[in-house]
Amino acid sequence: MAEPAVSRIVILDFGSQYTQVIARRIRECQVFSQILRFDASAKEIAALQPDGLILSGGPASVYGKDAPHPDKGIFDLGVPILGICYGVQLMAHHLGGKVEHSTRREYGPGLLRLTRSSSPLFHNLPKVLDIWNSHGDKITKMPRGFQAIGKTDNSPYAVIEQPKKKFYGLQFHPEVVHTPRGKDILANFVYQICGCKMDWTMGSFIDQTCEEVRRQVGSDHVILGLSGGVDSSVAAALLHKAIGDQLTCVFVNNGLLRSNEAETVQRVFGDNFHVKLKYVDASTRFLKRLKGVTDPEGKRKIIGNEFVRVFEDATKSLTRGKKSKFKFLAQGTLYPDVIESVAIGGNPAALIKSHHNVGGLPKNMKFKLVEPLRQLFKDEVREVGAQLGLPKEIVQRQPFPGPGLAVRILGDITRERLRILREADAIVVAEMKASDWYYRVWQSFAVLLPVRSVGVMGDERTYAQTIAVRIVESQDGMTADWVKLPYELLAKISTRISNEVKGVNRVCYDISSKPPATIEWE
Ligand code: XMP
Repeated sequence: MAEPAVSRIVILDFGSQYTQVIARRIRECQVFSQILRFDASAKEIAALQPDGLILSGGPASVYGKDAPHPDKGIFDLGVPILGICYGVQLMAHHLGGKVEHSTRREYGPGLLRLTRSSSPLFHNLPKVLDIWNSHGDKITKMPRGFQAIGKTDNSPYAVIEQPKKKFYGLQFHPEVVHTPRGKDILANFVYQICGCKMDWTMGSFIDQTCEEVRRQVGSDHVILGLSGGVDSSVAAALLHKAIGDQLTCVFVNNGLLRSNEAETVQRVFGDNFHVKLKYVDASTRFLKRLKGVTDPEGKRKIIGNEFVRVFEDATKSLTRGKKSKFKFLAQGTLYPDVIESVAIGGNPAALIKSHHNVGGLPKNMKFKLVEPLRQLFKDEVREVGAQLGLPKEIVQRQPFPGPGLAVRILGDITRERLRILREADAIVVAEMKASDWYYRVWQSFAVLLPVRSVGVMGDERTYAQTIAVRIVESQDGMTADWVKLPYELLAKISTRISNEVKGVNRVCYDISSKPPATIEWE
């Protein structure tokens, strides 16, 4: 895809768990940012014509044996550079300063005192700032031509600059929320020092991407597997705007969807957007294959394989045996999926690789890929969706696993157990929405347990099913905490489920965090 003609900041990733956060902060300034591996060549970087360069933090020591180092040529590109934590230590190391192991590791909150107030990096900021540190090494001798402009109790060189070359370095992390004015510092870097314009807006992204897609696809046809989730929905709406009827969406009902899911997708895309939508009800096929399967991995495999078959059949039937008119397959791949992660030392973000990146699409089908969202973070995707007119119930919806309710029914999957879970889940969702909690949490759903217990209803003894309610908050699904919902809301959910869902007499609230538990039960 052609590179956008907008201001651009390139971030070199030295393995920090915060690299993506830096990229997001820059984009929040409405400036396009892009992450490259630490060893990207100066030539490759120059070709992107960045307005500025940021060297991320990282867990290594600059003098360590396997420490990641940048191409030295980056210091001769004539582009402003901001080094953050390990990044500033690299600047010191490569430009004639000295970095040493500190006897006192500086970790957590600290106070920064500016010793010179004229630096554009601190334009309109107070002289004393709360900051967040996380480093073991420190600069003991400044690189050539640099001056110190800020200090902490532990370091006289907490902020250094070489204004002529526009090189700046911060020993602390401006990108994290614990540095409350950190975003202003980054904004000063991009506007005051790099001269970037605020030209990265979702409106301009939509226009530009539509043009690029039209150029890429020409008069050919595109097929897209629509799941009803945020990413594939926004991809569908964007492609529809770009190429109209050249897009066909396939929505597979695998029988494991939530209540009203299939209807919502058909209403939004078929009725409102007039997208060409092929609805395939494959629930019988899926449920037949899942009969008697209780092993979680077994369920996932069956569902993945069956999906590929159904999708292939649907594509064939759309072309009715003729040579396929679909040259392109569209996917809602996002930026975090395409960033090549750098695994150095103990960077947990690099090590916990997401185990469920969509996948599951036909491997042997000879499609070219269209991935219109591959430059975007999730919050940007949501904004694009909203600007394209998708309703809030789609754009702000919570994540839903590909294998659907199958991983929320522990044990055997039957139509009756699906009915129970669907009804219970619909109550959880309805009450969360009614109380305005739905959009404040990461996920809220019901799980059907494989146990029955004794209860009493009226004068009768019951022996019925148990529903667990799982409501968590999370930034990215990697870690999560259970939500301390008001008791009144929990009580309402519980009462409604046991009163309204036939076959359930007990409701539990899951109070486990991730780790050690996971968000889903299977
Ligand atoms: P876990 O259960 O691993 O879930 O803590 C983390 C996040 O990922 C979602 N999830 C899945 N998404 N296919 C998906 O598309 C899957 O197989 C899958 N398993 C879990 C889960 O809902 C949570 O948001």
